[in-house]
Amino acid sequence: MTAEVIYGSELAEKLRKEMQGEVSSLREKGVIPKLTVVIIGEDPASKSYVRGKQKASKEVGVDSNLIELPTTTTQQELLDLIEELNDDSTIHGILVQLPLPDHINEQQIIEAISPLKDVDGFHPINIGRMVAGKDTFYPCTPFGIITMLKSKNIQMEGKKAVVIGRSNIVGKPVGLLLLNENATVTYCHSKTRNMKEYTKEADILIVAVGKEHFLSGDDIKAGAVVIDVGVNRMANGKLTGDVEFESAKDKASYITPVPKGVGPMTITMLLHNTIKSARQFHN
Ligand code: GUN
Repeated sequence: MTAEVIYGSELAEKLRKEMQGEVSSLREKGVIPKLTVVIIGEDPASKSYVRGKQKASKEVGVDSNLIELPTTTTQQELLDLIEELNDDSTIHGILVQLPLPDHINEQQIIEAISPLKDVDGFHPINIGRMVAGKDTFYPCTPFGIITMLKSKNIQMEGKKAVVIGRSNIVGKPVGLLLLNENATVTYCHSKTRNMKEYTKEADILIVAVGKEHFLSGDDIKAGAVVIDVGVNRMANGKLTGDVEFESAKDKASYITPVPKGVGPMTITMLLHNTIKSARQFHN
């Protein structure tokens, strides 16, 4: 079998076109969706993500501003800034780029952001709503993955879904969203024994490990749906995923590439959440 490749880049483009229309009609009503991104320090990967977020916002007509702070910023200074942003009625979405420097308590920062402006979906209130199966801001990468599966009418109900990785940003929430779609979900992680026994049984395999070619075609079931969340830079400078694409493609029914797979969907769902927030604030 040769898998159909799911290009998140194409779906992202289609969704952003639809969002342009939605933003135009909000603007006609005097509502200008606005996202504020806060970045601390000089991490090149974070800076590159943030630039992508700014560019995509502009493309769909969402106002965005970037607040760049030095690595020396204190916990209190960041908390004061978040309070100001929470109180600013022109701002609908607040995103503090992670990871934060070691001297900052990340969880306290996440909890300081108003759940109504938490377009990352990281606030415990929004996570709690997601666990309860309620509508809320869902974390962007997991939400992007579910949107990609739905765009191909891939059935999740009753399927064995295996998630490799248990980060708060990707692994844990994507498992919950799959559960909400009635999949039977198993989490694997660095302490899992005999991991390949699980991967070989998966109908839907989500790989979010961050290790170049962690799995190959030998590790997956024929006809599996493989979603590769990894973004790894190879020695030759090119990007690659957690899954060896060529061998997996010959065995899977659907597979996402890296780049042009899950990545473009993350920013798209961030814009979706920001527009949703703007709509809610003005209803
Ligand atoms: N760092 C890596 N991914 C993300 C994300 O989705 N949101 C935030 N705030 N930081 C990140």
